[in-house]
Amino acid sequence: MTHPEFVPPMFSNEIVSGKVSWQSPSNIALVKYWGKKEHQIPANPSISFTLDNCRSITSLEFQKKEDKSDSFEFDFYFEDKPKVDFKPKIQKFFERIQQYCPYLNDYRFTIRSENSFPHSSGIASSASGMSALALCIMDLERQLDPGMSEEHFQRKASFLARLGSGSASRSIQGDLMIWGKHNDVESSSDLFAVKYEDELHENFQNFQDTILLVDKGEKQVSSTVGHDLMHGHPFAEERFLQAHRNLSKLLPVLKSGDYSEFIKIVESEALTLHAMMMSSQPYFILMKPNTLEIINRIWKFRKDTGIPACFTLDAGANVHLLYPENHASKVLEFIKNELVAYCENGHYICDQVGNGAKKL
Ligand code: DP6
Repeated sequence: MTHPEFVPPMFSNEIVSGKVSWQSPSNIALVKYWGKKEHQIPANPSISFTLDNCRSITSLEFQKKEDKSDSFEFDFYFEDKPKVDFKPKIQKFFERIQQYCPYLNDYRFTIRSENSFPHSSGIASSASGMSALALCIMDLERQLDPGMSEEHFQRKASFLARLGSGSASRSIQGDLMIWGKHNDVESSSDLFAVKYEDELHENFQNFQDTILLVDKGEKQVSSTVGHDLMHGHPFAEERFLQAHRNLSKLLPVLKSGDYSEFIKIVESEALTLHAMMMSSQPYFILMKPNTLEIINRIWKFRKDTGIPACFTLDAGANVHLLYPENHASKVLEFIKNELVAYCENGHYICDQVGNGAKKL
């Protein structure tokens, strides 16, 4: 199926060569995307905080080919070293977006990427990496089609990023992004993410996310395999409905600033994501003993201090500790005194809600 609004017009401009660079952040979902249909269509809507410090920096150099060929020509460097094992992923991405970016065949590309977060941290770089690459491609398209509106640029960047990695669609803008059709968000779409435009209560502004690195190894289950496990999963349909309900509940909470409701939704979403993996065939436990230690300590800390700190998880053992900025010093003290002991080599990353991608 082709979406005509993303097929570009005949271009007026001729661009022979150039280079563009973008930085794009990671994001952390509050209502999770887990399960998809063909063509990267999500099985349910999701919402995430855009992060700030965890990001990819990607540059795209392009040189018009002498003769147009049907193949994609590109080299990929990660942290200045050729990285051939990443090429199939980019090749697949180019194939998926080719009908929306027919000019990709006209150029030879050199793609260079690096991440601000450490190499092996167990943090998936697909959201930041794919969104940064999608933005570089859109930057080239905008040079070919200078009349393009800013809105179209943002929307198509998210649309392309989604075809690279679903969660990447939510990394383009900040501070909250919604991806997937939901009845309470008129502009929402399965094809691209939209910015949360409603009022955000000050309680959630500059929200902090400290990522406690419990396991810095490669993910045990790739997200592609993970999403696939939702096909034929006995609880899948109910889970997808639950995600719709949780987003319906979360939207007014973001406006009202109700911490206790926020915590209930966010922690339950994280545990449900893991429950889905534990109850699929084959089944997986992606938490580690230290993940549970940290969760229990966060619960105790919240009870003892009344500070509305909570956790969320992605498809791995690391814990995202979310908390309001005005409690940062107390929470950081708690991290250093109690949680660091459960992190691999005592490592954690301090991040916070950010404003989205930026051209460099
Ligand atoms: C658990 O976006 O990595 O982080 O579309 O296959 O690339 P693909 O999956 P991906 O899945 C992310 C899943 C999650 C939840 C979320 O970010 O919503």
